[in-house]
Amino acid sequence: MRVLIRDSAADVAGCGADLIEARLAARPAAVLGLATGATPLALYRELAARARAGRVSFSDVTTFNLDEYLGLDGAHPQSYRAYMDREFFAHVDIDIARTHVPAGNAGNARRAAVEYDRRIADAGGIDLQLLGIGRNGHIGFNEPYSSLSSRTRVKTLSANTIADNARFFADGEYQPHLAITVGIGTILDAREVLLLATGEAKAAAVRDMIEGPVAARCPASALQLHAHVTVVIDDAAASALDDPEFFRHIEREDRALGD
Ligand code: PGA
Repeated sequence: MRVLIRDSAADVAGCGADLIEARLAARPAAVLGLATGATPLALYRELAARARAGRVSFSDVTTFNLDEYLGLDGAHPQSYRAYMDREFFAHVDIDIARTHVPAGNAGNARRAAVEYDRRIADAGGIDLQLLGIGRNGHIGFNEPYSSLSSRTRVKTLSANTIADNARFFADGEYQPHLAITVGIGTILDAREVLLLATGEAKAAAVRDMIEGPVAARCPASALQLHAHVTVVIDDAAASALDDPEFFRHIEREDRALGD
């Protein structure tokens, strides 16, 4: 894992945007795996600003989002389809027909999940998968004890995750407890992974992902098995690492080598 530690959440977003800008310059028709949640918002704003400035274009890009709540259709403001349209797609030159989010309102959710993996494969696989990480170490909605080789499927959300996301739903409003999520195996199939994490609340999960054993209790630890992962974190999210200075040292050395 390449671990890049930055001073602030804004710098994490800038660093993530630099990596995506570089990849799209090399491959304008890339297939991107995208994430929702609070963490990528600053990244999406930065990418939209760069698109407006003509530094990056999404016109040939295809996207597949990680997950969607089951029981919400895309018109629901808390659906991840609505999030993506509102927070990112509306602000860049992307062809909305090439954006994919699992169907939260599918009549047969299990079949829709299998179909989603097939569509990713048909698109040529994911070139760059963007991820956040949950406080419990989840990636996508792959909660602890998910199979580390799982494919896209229906998952039950943990009490932790439901509580973390409750702030987005009004009092008394229906909050889903099931989701369709791409699997950990699906994520590991991506050619490259970029994970962003900020804030002290993520420090323990970040430590377990980077330093811990590969174990189902921290689904993100499966990324240790992937050969091309970049983790970008701020000082607060790095605060539980044994030796953050080691990663800063590696980055300086890499820069000296002209990586
Ligand atoms: P957050 O979610 O960015 O809202 O903290 C991350 C995640 O749950 O994957």
